Amino acid sequence: MIQLQDLFFQKFISKAEVKGAVNDVSLKINKDYKEKSPVFLIVLNGAFFFGADIIKKFDGTCEMSFVKVNSYEGTESKGAVSTVMGLDTTLKNRDVIIVEDIVDSGNTIEAILKMLKQEQVKSCKIATMFYKPLAFKKNYPIDYVGMEIENDFIVGYGLDYNELGRNLSAIYRLKPRKMKNIVLFGPPGAGKGTQAEYLKVKYNLVHISTGDVFRYNIKNETKLGILAKSYMDNGDLVPDEVTIEMLKAEVEKNNDAQGFIFDGFPRTHSQAAALDSFLAEKGEGINGMVALEVDENLLVERLLQRGETSGRADDQDESKIRNRFNEYKTKTAVLKDYYEDQNKYFGIQGVGSIEEVTERLCKVIDNL
Ligand code: IMP
Ligand code: MG
Repeated sequence: MIQLQDLFFQKFISKAEVKGAVNDVSLKINKDYKEKSPVFLIVLNGAFFFGADIIKKFDGTCEMSFVKVNSYEGTESKGAVSTVMGLDTTLKNRDVIIVEDIVDSGNTIEAILKMLKQEQVKSCKIATMFYKPLAFKKNYPIDYVGMEIENDFIVGYGLDYNELGRNLSAIYRLKPRKMKNIVLFGPPGAGKGTQAEYLKVKYNLVHISTGDVFRYNIKNETKLGILAKSYMDNGDLVPDEVTIEMLKAEVEKNNDAQGFIFDGFPRTHSQAAALDSFLAEKGEGINGMVALEVDENLLVERLLQRGETSGRADDQDESKIRNRFNEYKTKTAVLKDYYEDQNKYFGIQGVGSIEEVTERLCKVIDNL
C-alpha cells in the first residue's frame, strides 16, 4: 500500500502486465501504419510514458507532437476541458494518432478531436493505455486500448493523483476508506453533546468524548490515567503524547467501528497531526472537521441561563464564560487552518432549534 497526500492506493496491475499491454498496442500500430509516417499526438502530462514507449517501438518513420489539456481535479473529472498547451504544428494531410493515458468520460479526447477538426487531417485514430468503458459517454471509437478497467481511480505509469504517482511503474488503485471519521467542534454551550448523541446513532459511529475518556482512565486508575493525574495534581497540562495514547487505546477498543466522532480532540496542531498519522497507519483518515459556529454574545446569554437552572458555578460568571470562549476561539483558529488547508473544514451555523442544527450537520456529513 502507498500513500499519496491523504489517499491510499493498493497495487493493482504489475509492471510486467503494463509492458505486455503496451507491446500488444505497439504491434497493432506497427501493422496498421507500415506504409505511413504518422504523427503521434501525445496528451500531456499523463500519456508521456505510454507515448514514449509506443514511439520507441515504432518501426517506420514518424513524428511526435504534444498537447496539454486539463480536466481532472483530485479524483474527479471536472467535466469542462481547458487547453493548457495547444497544437504547435500543422497536421494538415497527416495521419494522426492521439495518444492518451486513460479515457474516462471521453471529454478530453472530444476536446482534442474538436481541435483537430480545423486541421484537415488525413486520418485520426485514438490510442489509450487504459480505458474505462463504464464511464465512457461518447460515441467516437477508441481504436487501440492497452487495458480496460472498471471505474476505479488509478495512478502510476504517467497517471497521477494531484500530480503525484506518475513515476510509479506499476498501477495502483485507490483503496476505498471504510470509516467515516469526524472531528466535531463547537464552543461551550453550542449544543455539541446533544448533536453528537444523535449523530452517533444516525451514522453508527463511536463517539469519543475526550473528557469522558480522561475521567474513565483516572477513575479506573489505568496506567495512562495515573500518569495523566500526576500532571494534573501538579497543576500542569497533560502532555499531548499522554492524551493521544488514551485516544489511541479508545480507537483500538473499537476496531471494527464504522467510524468515530472525535469530540474535544484534537485541540492543538500537533494533536491533529498525531491523529492523522495514527489513522494513516490504519489506511484511514479524518473526513472532516465539522464546527458549530455560534455568536459569542448569544452563547454567553445561553450559558448564563443554563447556570441559573443547573447551578454550575462555571456557568454563572460572565467573565469566566468569556474566558472559556476566548480560549476556544484561539484553539479553533489553529485547527480551522489545519483542516482548511486540506479542504476539510466545515463551519455550520449553530443558531436554531436542535433539529435545524442537526439537519445542517447531516447535510455536510452525508457528503463526507
Ligand atoms: P476524461 O476526459 O473523463 O476521459 O478523462 C481523461 C483524463 O482524466 C485523463 O487524461 C487523466 O488525466 C484523467 N483521469 C481519468 N481517470 C483517471 C484515473 O483513474 N487516474 C488518474 N487520472 C485519471
Ligand atoms: Mg491526462
